Amino acid sequence: MTAQSPAPRIPTGPRGLPLIGVVRDVRKDVLGWLMRTAAEHGPVAQYRFGPMRAYLVTHPEGLKHVLQDHTKNYTKDHFSYSLVRRVVGDGLIVSQGETWLKQRRLAQPAFHRARISAMAEQMVRATVELAERWGGSQRAGTPRLVVPDMMALTLRIVGEALLGTDVRAQTEAVSAAFNVISEQSVERFRALWLLPPVLPTAYDRAFRRARRELNKVVAGLVAARRQRMEDRGDLLSMFMLARDEETGEQMDDAHLQDEVMTMMIAGHETTATALSWTWALLEQNPDAERKLHEELDSVLGVRLPTAEDVPRLVYTRRVLDETLRLYPPAYVLSRKVMEDDTVCGYQVRGGSAVDISPYVTQRLPEFWPDPERFDPDRFTPEKIAARPKYAYFPFLGGPRQCIGNNFALMEGTLILATLAQRFRPRRVDRAMPRPEPLITLRPAGDLPVMINAR
Ligand code: HEM
Repeated sequence: MTAQSPAPRIPTGPRGLPLIGVVRDVRKDVLGWLMRTAAEHGPVAQYRFGPMRAYLVTHPEGLKHVLQDHTKNYTKDHFSYSLVRRVVGDGLIVSQGETWLKQRRLAQPAFHRARISAMAEQMVRATVELAERWGGSQRAGTPRLVVPDMMALTLRIVGEALLGTDVRAQTEAVSAAFNVISEQSVERFRALWLLPPVLPTAYDRAFRRARRELNKVVAGLVAARRQRMEDRGDLLSMFMLARDEETGEQMDDAHLQDEVMTMMIAGHETTATALSWTWALLEQNPDAERKLHEELDSVLGVRLPTAEDVPRLVYTRRVLDETLRLYPPAYVLSRKVMEDDTVCGYQVRGGSAVDISPYVTQRLPEFWPDPERFDPDRFTPEKIAARPKYAYFPFLGGPRQCIGNNFALMEGTLILATLAQRFRPRRVDRAMPRPEPLITLRPAGDLPVMINAR
């Protein structure tokens, strides 16, 4: 006789309303709803999101199953990506199958450690320019807006380091267009069937206008590089010069623009959001801020950081890691389930959706004692080793893990070190900002601060 595994259990979950399921509750307060659902229904919860059956998988074991071990059964054919597709076409973040694999292999070398280290100087140089502006604001006693400052800085860095282009003149246009797309994508996602995405309304025209703005910037950037056709060894050159092994074909302009758009969007908004939260959290936690300053004083003194300093800026990195735990920019993501499956002993039906949330899992008290407390020392090597891998996954995991994770962590460490060496920003509104869950989890209100010198 063979031992039979027990029949999978049917997950419980919030009932929601007829027809719309849980949509109304999600619209009202997505973070609160996610947290309550996980607390009340355990590792796998089930509900209806409009007409669709969906599951919230929060246990690290289930996440490993979905993202790593059985990843082929959990695809990006989820409707949340159809909106992203309208902006980035067939770029790396949404493509699948052979196209994705080919592009990922092509892009990967641009993100190797040695290549990223070579970008450190550009990252610090760009940050020093911002530091000069912060210094001016400090002397004049005028406030600065942290979120737009971080956005402009990370956009510039991605432009220079990966695409070999100075995008400073286009920063405002890109940010404004991106904001329209970001807000509308979330509104449409949450309204679901109420507003089909291609209605020719004024609302949709604003979306199209924003997308045209972004396309114009990207097309200009690609055309400028096409004219020169030199190999600068950066990501854009890799994409432009690569030839298909079998056919010898090169990537056409349309696809090239999709990839550039993807990198520009995926590569700046997330890191800027994380850094914005870091400033708010440091002010809220003076012990952590003091330890950070002590490390910067002892490792760097008054000199600027370099790539070689990054491994020695241990506490600085832990501050970023802990920020990404509490406020992961990608706070919720979804996959389509292809075939019936069992996750953590629960039945998951083919054709449904699986939602996963770093925001929720990274606050599970089972793995994160006193989860709301900001404590960078949760990231000592011993504590990391004691937790399951998927208790912490701000960059996801498995084959579709963020390609820019090491780039972002080095960039974040260098930016934080360069600015915190000199300044102690203090919020104009005393309270900690409220999280604003758009495509990424931003601090609401742009975070106005007064710049104090250290
Ligand atoms: C703190 C900063 C960042 C965070 C938290 C982050 C997070 C993520 C997450 C969660 C995904 C998976 C998305 C999905 O499954 O739909 C992802 C994918 C991706 N990220 Fe990042 N990211 C960051 C920075 C960057 C940077 C700096 C770049 C590029 C320079 C980048 C480029 C990409 C790309 C191209 C993908 C798609 C990869 C693929 O599917 O093969 N990201 N990122």
